[in-house]
Amino acid sequence: MNIDAVMRLAPVIPVIVIDDAARARPLAEALVAAGHRALEVTLRTPAAFEAIAEMAKVEGAVVGAGTVLDEAQLDRAIAAGARFIVSPGLTERVGRAAIERGIAFLPGIATAADIMRGLDMGLDRFKFFPAVASGGIPALKALSAPFGMARFCPTGGITEATAPDWLALPSVVCVGGSWMTAPA
Ligand code: 3PG
Repeated sequence: MNIDAVMRLAPVIPVIVIDDAARARPLAEALVAAGHRALEVTLRTPAAFEAIAEMAKVEGAVVGAGTVLDEAQLDRAIAAGARFIVSPGLTERVGRAAIERGIAFLPGIATAADIMRGLDMGLDRFKFFPAVASGGIPALKALSAPFGMARFCPTGGITEATAPDWLALPSVVCVGGSWMTAPA
C-alpha cells in the first residue's frame, strides 16, 4: 500500500502513544471497528515496537510507526510489522532509507524548502507538522499554493473540533492526532 492509499483509509489517523503493549491489540480492534484502519504508533515509549507487532495482527489494521528519527528505528519498525513510516521532519538519510526499503513514507514538513527537498526525492505526500504551531490553516493554504501536486496530513495541535476545518482544505487528505487515544 502506498502512502496515498494509507492516507485515504480514513479522515483521521490516530497518533498513539502506548505504554503497555498488552493494551495494543484491544485498542487496535476498537479503532478498526470504528473505521480507523490506519494507526500510527509513535516510537516514544519502550512498548512501541511490541505494540506495533500486536496491532499488526488485527485484521484490517494498517499499522505504521511514528516519530521515526533514524534508519535503525525505521528497520526495527518494519521488522515489527509497520506498513508505513512517519517522521517529524525530512532528512536525506531517513528519506533515502524509506525509499530504498520501498515502505510507504510520510515525512514531516513545515516550510517550502522542506517540501522542495521531498519533491527532489520523489515524495509528494507530507505530514504538516507541527500544524497549529507552524501557522495553522493559513500557513498550510499558503504552502499548498505553489505545490499543486502535494497532499498533506496536518498533525500537531489538531482536535476533534478543528479537524473538519483542516479536512475542508483541498490539499488535505487526512489529519493526524493523539486526541482520539488520549491516555485517559
Ligand atoms: C505527533 O507526533 O504527530 C504529534 O505529537 C501529535 O500531535 P497532537 O498530540 O497534538 O495530536
